[in-house]
Amino acid sequence: MTETRFSFSQLMRNLTTRKNPDDALAGAEKGGLEKTLGVWDLIILGVGAIIGSGIFAIVGIAAAGSPDGSSPGAGPALAISMVIAAIACVFSALCYSEFATMIPVAGGAYTYTFATLGEFAAWIVGWILMLEYAIGFIAVACAWTNHFMQFIKGFSNILPAWFVNPPLWLINDFRSAVNAYSSQGIDYHTAIPSVLGIPISINLPAIVMIALTTAILVKGTKDSAKMAGIMVAVKLGVIALFVLTGMFYIKPANWTPFAPNGLEGVFMGAFIIFFAYIGFDALATAAEECKNPQKDLPIGILGSLVVTTVVYVLVALVLTGMQATSGTAIPEGLFKAPMAFAMSAVHQNWIAGLISIGSLAGLTSVLLVMHMAATRVLFAMSRDNFLPRVFQKIHPKFNTPHILTITVGIVGVLGTLILDLNVAASLCNFGTFTSFIIVCVAILILRKIDPDRERPFKVPFCPWFPLMGILCCGGLMVFSMVVSKGQTAILSTALFVVWVIMGILIYASYGYKKNRLASQTVTSAENEIAEKDEFKAGIR
Ligand code: ALA
Repeated sequence: MTETRFSFSQLMRNLTTRKNPDDALAGAEKGGLEKTLGVWDLIILGVGAIIGSGIFAIVGIAAAGSPDGSSPGAGPALAISMVIAAIACVFSALCYSEFATMIPVAGGAYTYTFATLGEFAAWIVGWILMLEYAIGFIAVACAWTNHFMQFIKGFSNILPAWFVNPPLWLINDFRSAVNAYSSQGIDYHTAIPSVLGIPISINLPAIVMIALTTAILVKGTKDSAKMAGIMVAVKLGVIALFVLTGMFYIKPANWTPFAPNGLEGVFMGAFIIFFAYIGFDALATAAEECKNPQKDLPIGILGSLVVTTVVYVLVALVLTGMQATSGTAIPEGLFKAPMAFAMSAVHQNWIAGLISIGSLAGLTSVLLVMHMAATRVLFAMSRDNFLPRVFQKIHPKFNTPHILTITVGIVGVLGTLILDLNVAASLCNFGTFTSFIIVCVAILILRKIDPDRERPFKVPFCPWFPLMGILCCGGLMVFSMVVSKGQTAILSTALFVVWVIMGILIYASYGYKKNRLASQTVTSAENEIAEKDEFKAGIR
């Protein structure tokens, strides 16, 4: 009989087992995804992932502060907040570029962590990335419903009333429906139908959209890039229309005071609008599908970040010039659909309508890329035995990980039933900040333990730039926790902790065991010196 004895040092060795980047590359060669994406596809996917609910909706709160007073607004200094958020992203974007060109396989931050910090940290990062992509995807789907309902209201004289004003339980999760009914003084027990005693409240438009993105993604990445391309053109077109028309309605008086809430407002604005930049990192998760990742990925990642920063700063200047963002009561429209509202306020109603179409296109492309990114991270995790092998299956005709894509779609649908938009967005921010910080840390570690590996793109001024990335992201995250008050902040912090604990439990009960059973070519942290030689040998 074999005696199994617990050994702490063995446990630590297992938890810090790192995956040689060459193994990740070999794995991708063997069972890899089809390489179809060129540099323009990447920039389109990047802009498609970035420009969405942030600039079409959240920008109002960043400028004028939250309506319940829980966070101060930046005022016209929103343009400065935009630049601060972009700077926080640039340092991480450079680190992502270095990694993505060095290890161009699916999985993004998850794969990089496996190569540097080891098995346990990699699992946690993969799990946290689900907050960014899968939970962020749910937040955007909920925002899509709000914009869609706003949009069809413009056609109330031609569309049937039941379509324009559906019951609240058909366009909201249960909690939001209860709140909405209560605010109208209606007892939800009488308004929400129930089946077998269970109240039924679903966000139907969001569910339909999730089903659509699932179908598009199952059909193929190239098609998804084409679809995203059309939507990117539409949303950039309407934003250009907003800037070019809106600049004639700017009242310079609206720009004073420039920063009504001082630095606190500017930094809180930067934290809130950071959500608008989320998405460039999703490109790294599609590295395996790039035709020429070494050259194209840094251009795709940094290029899409530069394009969006310029667009955002212009929108911020025009919007805050058209609409007062401080002082007396701020109109509700500025919080819901700020650009369309500003155009309606100057009687440019047809431009307001076009902006609504653009925001729907914008949100749809963000949905597509977030869904795709969640799938690619899970694909990489499944390849590393952290998830059942069935998820690695590639569709014989479409060459896409269809089972995973559908699974993420189902999780998204379930999420819309229980998660509220604000909490989902906050959780998404937490996940993103954490993954950006870890990628910056991982760059510093890999430069130390594997200095000779070929790096087609290198972060300049290392270690200072990665350190700045850690400081900026960590600083904004802590700042927001200290400054923002209210239920959403408490609930999202609590959910973040619960999410991490759930991740640890799933790893302990499934991933850890599976990985011990599987015979993988991995290296342990204890063998660091020997491993360095292996790494060097790998590139000779
Ligand atoms: N950046 C994405 C958006 O603004 C998440 O919707």
